[in-house]
Amino acid sequence: MKLPARGRACGKVILLGEHAVVYGRPALAAGLPIGLEAEIVAEAGAARIESAHHALADDPRPARLLAEAAAALGVASDGLLLRVRGALPPGVGLGSSAALVVAVLRALAAGSGRSLARDEELALGRRLEAIFHGHPSGIDPAAAALGGCFRFVRGEPPVIRAVAAGRPVPLVVALDDLPRSTGAAVGALRARWEADRAGYERLFDEVGRLVDAGVRAAESGDLAGLGEAFDRNQALLEALGVSTPDIETRVAAARRAGALGAKLTGGGAGGAVIALAPDPEPVAASLRATGARTLAVDVGGAASEAA
Ligand code: MEV
Repeated sequence: MKLPARGRACGKVILLGEHAVVYGRPALAAGLPIGLEAEIVAEAGAARIESAHHALADDPRPARLLAEAAAALGVASDGLLLRVRGALPPGVGLGSSAALVVAVLRALAAGSGRSLARDEELALGRRLEAIFHGHPSGIDPAAAALGGCFRFVRGEPPVIRAVAAGRPVPLVVALDDLPRSTGAAVGALRARWEADRAGYERLFDEVGRLVDAGVRAAESGDLAGLGEAFDRNQALLEALGVSTPDIETRVAAARRAGALGAKLTGGGAGGAVIALAPDPEPVAASLRATGARTLAVDVGGAASEAA
């Protein structure tokens, strides 16, 4: 290995279709301008990780990721120290686990003089993301690797189509620091689906239809239509049982302050809310009044490598 070696990947928001995407329906995602950098340096002893984020430094899974990613690339992980830095907060629903997976793969590939083809990177990313949650669709590592905006259907390889929004999509993201787990939300939904497959499959079909309506709205620059798809998706996420009263308070606050639509994003069961807000400041203020931190960001540029 040629060390130090670095790799970067970005965070993501799922605009439409989380959870149903695990069951084969399409989803619409966008990379965020904030991400993570993995730096791998040589250090005597067993592999270990350093991060300014306590949530990551105290978590055994990144060390397991380093070991398994190294094994997948045919590299020894003993004597490697992984340093993680970047502005993407862990555990809030913005794809930090997947960003870490892709950044580590890229750093190891760079150190061992390899370049990973897109489909190889996505397949490895999805396999390694299972360290963090049990049934990943692969959408999070795809966003971490590709950035930009894209429609995604799971598979080996997944079907990914770049989506160029007709107008930038102005989002306010509301974040909190309460602990939550995508794995637990995905696992609990799986148990409910096992008990009533027909009922949940119908809900997933409805999500799939509204995702494609939302994709068309995004492409034609119809922000009101996209906002309506956010609202319909939130109602279906509530029916799927992955929303919470706190999320619904924030969604209502965003809508009252003028958002064109609002919903949870990512795993749910707590975590981040996104509001489509052409006038972001009143929406951000109203979300902050619920105790959230906010981030205003425009998404909607097509994923560069996805088409
Ligand atoms: C998590 O960001 C998105 C989920 O749909 C899980 C997945 O697709 O892997 C909840």
